[in-house]
Amino acid sequence: MKNQDYLYLDHAASTPMRKSALDKYIEAESFGFANSSGGHKLSRNSKNLLEDSREIIAELFDSAPSEIIFTSGGTEADNWTIKSLFDSKQPNNNLVTSNIEHEAVLASAEWISSNGFQTKYAKSDENGFVTKDEFIKQIDDETKVASLMWGNNETGVIQPIKDISKELKSINTSTLFHSDVVQGIISDNVDFHRNGIESAAISAHKIGGPKGVGAMFVNNKFKLPSFLHGGKQELERRAGTVDVPGIAAFATALQEQQTRFDEEVGLMNDERLIFEDKLKNALSVEIIGESMKRLPHISNVQFRDINSEVLLIQLDLNGLGVSRGSACASGAQKPSHVLQAMNIDSKFINNHLRFSFGWTTQAGDGSKAADIVMKAVKEIE
Ligand SMILES: Cc1ncc(COP(=O)(O)O)c(C=O)c1O
Repeated sequence: MKNQDYLYLDHAASTPMRKSALDKYIEAESFGFANSSGGHKLSRNSKNLLEDSREIIAELFDSAPSEIIFTSGGTEADNWTIKSLFDSKQPNNNLVTSNIEHEAVLASAEWISSNGFQTKYAKSDENGFVTKDEFIKQIDDETKVASLMWGNNETGVIQPIKDISKELKSINTSTLFHSDVVQGIISDNVDFHRNGIESAAISAHKIGGPKGVGAMFVNNKFKLPSFLHGGKQELERRAGTVDVPGIAAFATALQEQQTRFDEEVGLMNDERLIFEDKLKNALSVEIIGESMKRLPHISNVQFRDINSEVLLIQLDLNGLGVSRGSACASGAQKPSHVLQAMNIDSKFINNHLRFSFGWTTQAGDGSKAADIVMKAVKEIE
């Protein structure tokens, strides 16, 4: 089976690179391959490319270039904000986050706890939603960092970021409000300043850019301590030779994604709705978070009678690639912490699959995917 015959609905895990981004990578690797910190002409080429990319990305997010720091991806940006502000001189500081975050945030939170700081978890309700009141009640005078994701990577449920940021400062003006917007930027309009987000994790490979590249937005009001120590790259905030071609490709991918946003996201939404309707009419399924405001690209489906591992394999054999949830957790074969946090009945907790649409989605994909699912279910029964 050629790749073209295989229907890929795992865009929440990763996306193919856009041609414009690949072309830019190749061009930048030739024009801007030199170390961007050097003092000669070729280094200046590289440095210019880096700063142009920073400006492009900053402008797309309505922020200042000095607020964008390049990283190796979303994981690093989440780790950075969460871990770097805790200091043994202030042992009473705490972290507030939620129990439905991505592993990059949850594992960082565990690290904070293992270093003696308190971590408080706001709980999701049964719809995968963390209410403003539930989150806000965890904040106190000692909250150093509060972190809530924009949209959940397993269910797509969008969290009340703006409502929380408005109220959070009335309790503690010095709390830094971080948001993991890795999934959010795939299919929602994310504006940091307007939503009161003070730091954010972004990843290139979710929107048609290269893997291993991402960015951290940090409001100019805050100066995060360096996470990687060494040279003075990235405004003296992140040491290490900068991946300029990867970053240039990231900026190009983001530019194309933003230009085509309405068209691409409209299609993701339409195809997802067709897919969900067709499945609901034909099978015994539940769409998780159906009544909630969700990211248009994600559909988490509970199959009443079929184990997700079995169905995943049968779908793969039939030419449809999806996942059980977060890519990081799926290999582990344990129930999703997000579904557990939602109090999903334990009888059905291993019966979920995530179908995620993306920038390569075409008209007809939703219906085709539903047909493949129905065929696979019949084959299993
Ligand atoms: C919500 C969320 N945060 C963080 C990450 C990690 O991003 P990266 O793969 O760029 O490290 C992912 C990737 O799956 C994600 O979905």
